[in-house]
Amino acid sequence: MASSYLMLIMITLLIPTNSLLTPHFYDKVCPQALQVIKSVVHQAILRERRIGASLLRLHFHDCFVNGCDGSVLLDDTKNFTGEKTAFPNINSIRGFSVVDEIKAAVDKACKRPVVSCADILATAARDSVAILGGPQLWYNVLLGRRDARKASKAAANANLPPPTFNFSQLISNFKSHGLVVKDLVALSGGHTIGFAKCTTFRNRIYNETNIDPSFAASLRKNCPKKGGDNNLTPLDFTPSKVDTTYYKSLLHKKGLLHSDQQLFKGLGSESDKLVQLYSKSPLTFARDFKTSIIKMGNMKPLTGRQGEIRRNCRRIN
Ligand code: HEM
Ligand SMILES: *[C@@H]1O[C@H](CO)[C@@H](O)[C@H](O)[C@H]1NC(C)=O
Ligand SMILES: *[C@@H]1O[C@H](CO)[C@@H](O)[C@H](O)[C@H]1NC(C)=O
Ligand SMILES: *[C@@H]1O[C@H](CO)[C@@H](O)[C@H](O)[C@H]1NC(C)=O
Repeated sequence: MASSYLMLIMITLLIPTNSLLTPHFYDKVCPQALQVIKSVVHQAILRERRIGASLLRLHFHDCFVNGCDGSVLLDDTKNFTGEKTAFPNINSIRGFSVVDEIKAAVDKACKRPVVSCADILATAARDSVAILGGPQLWYNVLLGRRDARKASKAAANANLPPPTFNFSQLISNFKSHGLVVKDLVALSGGHTIGFAKCTTFRNRIYNETNIDPSFAASLRKNCPKKGGDNNLTPLDFTPSKVDTTYYKSLLHKKGLLHSDQQLFKGLGSESDKLVQLYSKSPLTFARDFKTSIIKMGNMKPLTGRQGEIRRNCRRIN
């Protein structure tokens, strides 16, 4: 009696939290799918290094709004206003034409639409990070997500964290997605690549005190008090390399966004300690980033007969 109960507990512990997604989902139905995605991502990054960052951010913005279901890719229709015009996305998220390119290439290779747009985002994010960061950032991406038949601008506004958030707001936002402090600090490492517009950090460089003064002064040149709203500044000093420069900068009050610097205040918090650890140990960062992005990719996927496999990532079938 007691031993069968113990057995049940052991079996429960052995089942992964999301047993519906698997790295082998396309092995039989289209064995070349992942290779095709990687090749298109690689070509796109050779054309423009920043696109890797943009693809990673698309996966994040997909998952944080009703789960990883490709909803971020849907254009507005008569039936719903999609997520593309929500505050955190408008005039900001990009990479849609590369997603279209991947979708066309993978459907052609598979001879029919079997790979979901949500899985394309998860895979393109993984490939981008590994291409820009090296083999220690490679992981087996879990697959089998299906695509949503609706999207919601209101849900995007409610669920994506803005850069004005303080530490407790960031924590509660991540908590609402089932993510903890370590996930917040590791996933914010996404800001080791890519760029931000002047509007997203202007208040920080003119008004805040926990910023290195000479760093703030240098940023003001490309981000005036008035005008230059769309001028871009790299999120860390090496914006096309997935490395630990982002965390090193936080130690020196050189985080670009208000939300970035919230992760390190030098007061010995759990978050401070993680920033210090990742700044010194690229391998620990790589390990924790991979764990957390897989966890993020498991958020509320549509599986089985839910949703659909879109033929065109921008609209429902
Ligand atoms: C913790 C809360 C987060 C906040 C408040 C935040 C906010 C922002 C903002 C304001 C930008 C600049 C957008 C623009 O100016 O157009 C940005 C860019 C970016 N974010 Fe985040 N972000 C967060 C977390 C994440 C996570 C978890 C990831 C991925 C794992 C991520 C990946 C990126 C990337 C790669 C870019 C650059 C995109 C590009 O250059 O196209 N961010 N983020
Ligand atoms: C809107 O919804 C109706 C009813 O579900 C559907 O028949 C129609 O095709 C949808 N229109 C668009 C543009 O998606
Ligand atoms: C964070 O922001 C919220 C909402 O503005 C505020 O209520 C809270 O006091 C702030 N927390 C800290 C520690 O500043
Ligand atoms: C600085 O803060 C003040 C007071 O909150 C605000 O009115 C002003 O717009 C801020 N300056 C910038 C450049 O964001």
